[in-house]
Amino acid sequence: MRVSGKSIIVTGAGSGIGRGIAERLAEEGASLIVNDIDAQLGEQVAAAIRAAGGQAAFVAADVTQGAQMQALIAATLQLNSKLDAMINNAGWTHRNRPMLEVSEADFDKVYAVNMKSIYWSAIHAVPAMKKTGGGSFINIASTAGVRPRPGLTWYNGSKAAVIVTSKSMAAELGPDNIRVNCINPVFNPNTGLSAEFAGGPLDEARRGKFLSTIPLGRFSTALDVANAALYLASDEAAFISGVCIEVDGARCV
Ligand SMILES: NC(=O)c1ccc[n+]([C@@H]2O[C@H](COP(=O)([O-])OP(=O)(O)OC[C@H]3O[C@@H](n4cnc5c(N)ncnc54)[C@H](O)[C@@H]3O)[C@@H](O)[C@H]2O)c1
Repeated sequence: MRVSGKSIIVTGAGSGIGRGIAERLAEEGASLIVNDIDAQLGEQVAAAIRAAGGQAAFVAADVTQGAQMQALIAATLQLNSKLDAMINNAGWTHRNRPMLEVSEADFDKVYAVNMKSIYWSAIHAVPAMKKTGGGSFINIASTAGVRPRPGLTWYNGSKAAVIVTSKSMAAELGPDNIRVNCINPVFNPNTGLSAEFAGGPLDEARRGKFLSTIPLGRFSTALDVANAALYLASDEAAFISGVCIEVDGARCV
């Protein structure tokens, strides 16, 4: 068991990549706090983990709201007495379209869910981690943040902000024994956001366009990302901070 006894929050764990991370970490002995804004999805994931023999509780919160993030951390401390890892996975994108056609409301939501959530998680989780001698953050960014493509400009920028902010957090929080790392997944066609990234239903043409840029010849899966998160959350990564693991099959363009 690689994360046995660790208290870990996964935000946006009601579906997609977050669900995969929560399930994998629970298999390896973590006590999971499954967060999502969608209570029905989140409750289902927590119940599935428990049914498989793992430890999980669902705590609803909108991670863009400071008071709700505060309540999420407080509920975690009440249930598990500590917070070892905060996995900021909840994310959102505007639909793939020309940058000038993205509304202000969609721009604001992209930055609120992808970036402001990290601000709130730091504000409320860092003091809790300091009290117990340290912890770690794992922020789910994207290959979009390092190799942007047209059509997702504002989303791409928000993920670049996640990457640089994570490196800066790592530099600032190191003396408190708090590690901060990122994961950059490449396209996964099986999540709630996939069609938005692709700009419409995933027909053969859209799938082929993405696939042709991935030398290992397949898309990423939630399990690929979960295995990277498992490593970063474990003590095996005790000296790893400020890095961004690219889970992208060597995506070249
Ligand atoms: N799918 C991909 O191709 C891909 C590639 C790279 C990075 N990512 C990133 O992976 C992460 C997970 O996305 P996914 O693809 O699994 O999509 P998804 O839509 O399946 O999962 C996102 C989850 O976040 C939840 N959520 C949204 N807003 C929230 C909020 N304000 N508070 C709490 N929960 C909220 C949603 O309800 C949903 O369950 C995102 O950060 C995304 O940017 C995805």
